[in-house]
Amino acid sequence: MEKKRVSDSKVTTAVLMEPADANVAGNVHGGVIMKNIDNTAAVVALRHAGSNVVTASIDRLDFHNPVYVGELVFLKASLNRVGRSSMEVGVRVEAENPRRGQVRHVASAYLTFVALGQDGRPTEVAGLTLQDDQERRRNAEAADRQKTRLAEKQREQAGREEARR
Ligand SMILES: CC(C)(COP(=O)(O)OP(=O)(O)OC[C@H]1O[C@@H](n2cnc3c(N)ncnc32)[C@H](O)[C@@H]1OP(=O)(O)O)[C@@H](O)C(=O)NCCC(=O)NCCS
Repeated sequence: MEKKRVSDSKVTTAVLMEPADANVAGNVHGGVIMKNIDNTAAVVALRHAGSNVVTASIDRLDFHNPVYVGELVFLKASLNRVGRSSMEVGVRVEAENPRRGQVRHVASAYLTFVALGQDGRPTEVAGLTLQDDQERRRNAEAADRQKTRLAEKQREQAGREEARR
């Protein structure tokens, strides 16, 4: 399978926050931002894999700033690493007040998607060509995060099995 570049799948989406996106306090609901993070990251994974993808995990997500109705939310997403069937996508979320033009960093997130074949099982994806130091750094950091994720998953599975006995 021919390798692909990070730039082949990266995407930026802009979403206008509307009244229906607000929580009872009038600020944008965190869940709205989370859904947009998942949607945008999924586009990156879909573009790279060219097959169906599912979200396998979303890492810890911190909201650094609130988002208000009437603001534009930019979601900048790109691939950090691919395994055999898994892909880590990083998403940076920024909010802009379109009248004043000020941009704030709202959140950053790492999501792992798995490509599925026709049989619904994980299937191989194209390799990733890393073109600069930033891409190489992100790739190395993503490899460390994947090790941590899988170790945590194993620990949790072992804990569940222990509890069943
Ligand atoms: C994600 C899923 C396909 C993994 O299935 P699995 O049987 O564990 O598959 P495998 O053990 O063969 O692992 C497949 C890949 O997923 C990776 N993976 C599995 N669980 C993971 C997790 N929690 N976080 C990150 N990567 C994970 C593995 O490392 C492997 O990567 P690689 O192929 O690049 O080496 C399966 O758990 C699933 O379908 N989950 C539901 C996904 C879903 O419906 N999401 C939307 C929720 S609404």
